[in-house]
Amino acid sequence: MQGTVEDVDVPSASDVLRRCRELVRPALVDAVGRLHPWTGEMAAYSLGWSDTAGTPEPGGSEGKGVRQALALLGAEAVGADAACAVPGAVAVELVHTFSLLHDDVMDADALRRRRPAVWKAYGTGPAVLAGDALLARAVTGLAETPGHHVAAAVRRLCDALNDLVAGQAEDLRFEHRPWDGPGAVGPEEYRSMAEGKTGALLGCALALGAVLGGAPEPTVAALDRAGRHLGLAFQAVDDILGIWGDPATTGKPVHADLHRGKKTHPVLAALAGGSRAARELGTLLASARPTDAAAAERVASLVEEAGGRAATRGEARRHLDAARDALRATPLTRTAARELDVLFAGLADRVM
Ligand code: IPE
Ligand code: MG
Ligand code: MG
Repeated sequence: MQGTVEDVDVPSASDVLRRCRELVRPALVDAVGRLHPWTGEMAAYSLGWSDTAGTPEPGGSEGKGVRQALALLGAEAVGADAACAVPGAVAVELVHTFSLLHDDVMDADALRRRRPAVWKAYGTGPAVLAGDALLARAVTGLAETPGHHVAAAVRRLCDALNDLVAGQAEDLRFEHRPWDGPGAVGPEEYRSMAEGKTGALLGCALALGAVLGGAPEPTVAALDRAGRHLGLAFQAVDDILGIWGDPATTGKPVHADLHRGKKTHPVLAALAGGSRAARELGTLLASARPTDAAAAERVASLVEEAGGRAATRGEARRHLDAARDALRATPLTRTAARELDVLFAGLADRVM
């Protein structure tokens, strides 16, 4: 499809995200407004709407809103009006916000979107509670939606939540696994962890839109599959940015994954290479975790030399292709399918 005259009126990924954000915004504001004022304040801070004093911050550190856009496009892709997917879009955005809040506690990451993480700004207990509040509100809001498809939608969301928690469990447990030998994390284990922690919710977002739009199960399943592959591409990119990203752009500190011994794709792929750099990397990682900036820098350059960065780019590319193939193999409305394609490419494009 690329390069044809038809592409002229296809909006950019940021146009798509903006349109969807504007459609979902009133319902998202309403959902946050239903929280206890204190958890609501932390939620608004976390969503980038206000500062720690609760003062509105127009143009603050809002996320991209990928999940809400996927939910709306999922509905449009099956021929339904985007409005029917707004409750699903709100639910996935709230779940995403909850998961980041708790993830920063688990990963001890002090910075998110260029600002102190909620646990740093408000304390760990309050941050955990704000995450709980967001999760409860997400499920409640979806369950309260009128219509025939709500039970199936809630079921989808709950399945994704269970996968997300399992993925996070694996991610945390892997920190304590060795880099090589019989206890090392294999490629399939990495994939299952990343699909759970990141892919499940992206798949769910697309699937929820289709469910709320009344699509048949095979279409819903194909959209879920596309979203999961997108999630794996997205996580591969996230892993790359965690080692070589610019904190000014990512809003997160660099090398945090290396310091924590996270089993990220670039390092695992580098170690699997068997080159001299791979062997040196293996020896270095077996001796100690990189605790200071210089040690992390050395690990990063060995990972690069051993081909880890290139291998992870390839991994992201393969999953992006698989996500697009899943979309193409499904009967979808033309405009939404093109917008999804543009959005998918834009997300993986962060490092390619
Ligand atoms: C986050 O995974 C996954 C969830 C929040 C469920 P990461 O820990 O790899 O993501 P970042 O780098 O903190 O955003
Ligand atoms: Mg994290
Ligand atoms: Mg994490």
